[in-house]
Amino acid sequence: MRIGVLTSGGDCPGLNAVIRSVVHRAVVDHGDEVIGFHDGWRGLLEADHRKLDLDAVGGILALGGTILGSSRVQPAQLRDGVERAKGHVAELGLDAVIPIGGEGTLKAARLLSDAGLPIVGVPKTIDNDIASTDVTFGFDTAVGVATEALDRLKTTAESHQRVLIVEVMGRHTGWIALHSGMAAGAHAIVVPERPFDIDELTKVVGQRFDAGKRFAIVVVAEGAKPREGTMAFDVGATDVYGHERFAGVARQLAVELEGRLGKEARPVILGHVQRGGTPTAYDRVLATRFGWHAVEAAHRGAFGMMTALRGTDITLVPLAAAVEHLKTVPQERYAEVECVL
Ligand code: F6P
Repeated sequence: MRIGVLTSGGDCPGLNAVIRSVVHRAVVDHGDEVIGFHDGWRGLLEADHRKLDLDAVGGILALGGTILGSSRVQPAQLRDGVERAKGHVAELGLDAVIPIGGEGTLKAARLLSDAGLPIVGVPKTIDNDIASTDVTFGFDTAVGVATEALDRLKTTAESHQRVLIVEVMGRHTGWIALHSGMAAGAHAIVVPERPFDIDELTKVVGQRFDAGKRFAIVVVAEGAKPREGTMAFDVGATDVYGHERFAGVARQLAVELEGRLGKEARPVILGHVQRGGTPTAYDRVLATRFGWHAVEAAHRGAFGMMTALRGTDITLVPLAAAVEHLKTVPQERYAEVECVL
């Protein structure tokens, strides 16, 4: 069998572990050939690729980023994107393509699969918002990075009697905010799923200072917005790919809370540090299992599917179901943490 693999969309710790696993299972166990496309779908659309053998994936298990590079280019952006992809898959004699990516990548994977290409998707995102899989790799690493930052920020917040508003990633969902906030014992957690009430947030933080505490930590997901009409708010803009370019919820909250509380407030934006660096052991294991099962799916001819974690098992789900909707934080999870606004 000849297999093409690519990594597309925002990078994520664990991508290299999937690539390594695909090569190990395919080349060593099945005697397949594997090629890697450069920079996500761009590589497939331009037939820009290289051979991936055991040497190529040596020592990358613990490496962050992706040795293949990534981009946000999608086949649907080109008039002849689907036809070009089909042409290159045929020219290269590929029996399977394994795209590793998040929401946008998996939607493109579905498009190409519907057009007849032999696709097995592998989900990834630090945001953990892909439906049909309990967890995506990268999430555990991102939560760990955010939690360590929150732990560190507590001491400086206390020294200066400040409110620190810590912005974590999460365009549409508050998984990183909820889990890092829980792990670090944040005093308020603000998520995109629930528009926040600035009066309530002011009250929660104010009550802490009234009770004699010297600082407060608020974790906010980058996509969080206030309830309509409760506060002047700049939501930002969208980029050429239709992705939000947020105006900075933490910055806006810091100004608002400082004014309302008369306490020093500072925004801290963790940004891409959450996506960088070495994956945790959990993410390496999940990524490795996904790679192994993607190759098995290709050998069984189970195309149009995506690997997924259900409980402790790796299973296959239709790409169509995986991209139907995002996995938001369920309402009942808020009850476990009284500080979610
Ligand atoms: O989807 C993953 C993610 O890290 C989001 O949490 C974040 O909003 C976005 O990517 C950032 O994208 P970019 O790297 O293109 O700025």
